[in-house]
Amino acid sequence: MGILITGGAGFLGSALANALVDGGHEVLVLDDLSAGDPNRLDPGVLFHRGSITDRPKLWTLLQGVDTVYHLAARVLVAESILYPREYNEANVSGTVALLEAMRDAGIPRLIFASSGAVYGDQTDQPIHETATPHPLSPYAVSKLSAEHYIHTIGALWGTTTVALRIFNAYGPGQPVLPSHSPVIPRFISQALGGGSLVIFGDGEQTRDFVYLTDVVHALIEARNIGKPEHCTVNVGTGIGVSINQIAQEIITQTGSSSNIIYSPVSSGGVSRLQADLTRARKLLGYRPKITIEEGIRRMLQARVQSASTGPQQSPEGE
Ligand SMILES: NC(=O)c1ccc[n+]([C@@H]2O[C@H](COP(=O)([O-])OP(=O)(O)OC[C@H]3O[C@@H](n4cnc5c(N)ncnc54)[C@H](O)[C@@H]3O)[C@@H](O)[C@H]2O)c1
Repeated sequence: MGILITGGAGFLGSALANALVDGGHEVLVLDDLSAGDPNRLDPGVLFHRGSITDRPKLWTLLQGVDTVYHLAARVLVAESILYPREYNEANVSGTVALLEAMRDAGIPRLIFASSGAVYGDQTDQPIHETATPHPLSPYAVSKLSAEHYIHTIGALWGTTTVALRIFNAYGPGQPVLPSHSPVIPRFISQALGGGSLVIFGDGEQTRDFVYLTDVVHALIEARNIGKPEHCTVNVGTGIGVSINQIAQEIITQTGSSSNIIYSPVSSGGVSRLQADLTRARKLLGYRPKITIEEGIRRMLQARVQSASTGPQQSPEGE
């Protein structure tokens, strides 16, 4: 049976699609290319351009599929504050539309890419899945709403549902956007370009940065969860790393003479974010392998390789 990945031309979705094809699976991707790039996909992946709200297209694609990975979403926190209605439509209504199409086509399993952002500020760290979420942006609200929808509707219609709360994923091919870019690829670009590394807040805020291949591994293993039939699982490293540490590590590894500038203007976000992995270990056998030092090293190597083989094909993108 085949596997459908929505948002499969994006940063995480394309890495998942390529890994599944490598593993011998038949993989279909549905992506509207609002942020994705089909050039990221290996030739064995069957790419279809379209939206998760296109019911006839979904109906056709879902024939012969037994698992849907739902990664299609708008993913920029700052943008969601400006355009909450759009985020609600893409991330919440889009998820409900997908669920209806899955019911009509009789698809038994859905794995949803949720986010560690649903937790917001938490006193107790590392954060267990039973913590009460305090979403701090429309993006985080949309992810939490979609989680509720998939589990509630999944229970009513007999669909097995897994929501993976992915913390701060990073890796090669991660976009560097003109604004609100993710911190690691942004710092790498700034360090390699000799510019200053700009830190919002005092840089002591910590995040749980999880490398791309570890996230992909968790996503693949989620397909094997039989019980419980509806579960939510953290995917991080269990280690909090400060933004100052990231900046310092990138400056060291690049040998850059860049300096660090602190911007008091914008909030640095929540002060701490660190995943408790007890449930991930139990349900997924999940053990993240890539340290932050190694992950940054691999991103720098990928830069060198793409510079020697021509421009990166993937757009710089969450
Ligand atoms: N990257 C992270 O750190 C991170 C952390 C937590 C959760 N997530 C979640 O993982 C998923 C993938 O994130 P990413 O970082 O790869 O982002 P991304 O923007 O690279 O991928 C999202 C993809 O969805 C596509 N898309 C958007 N709306 C669509 C629609 N209506 N129909 C079809 N396709 C649509 C985009 O074109 C894009 O290719 C998202 O759901 C995101 O919320 C990511």
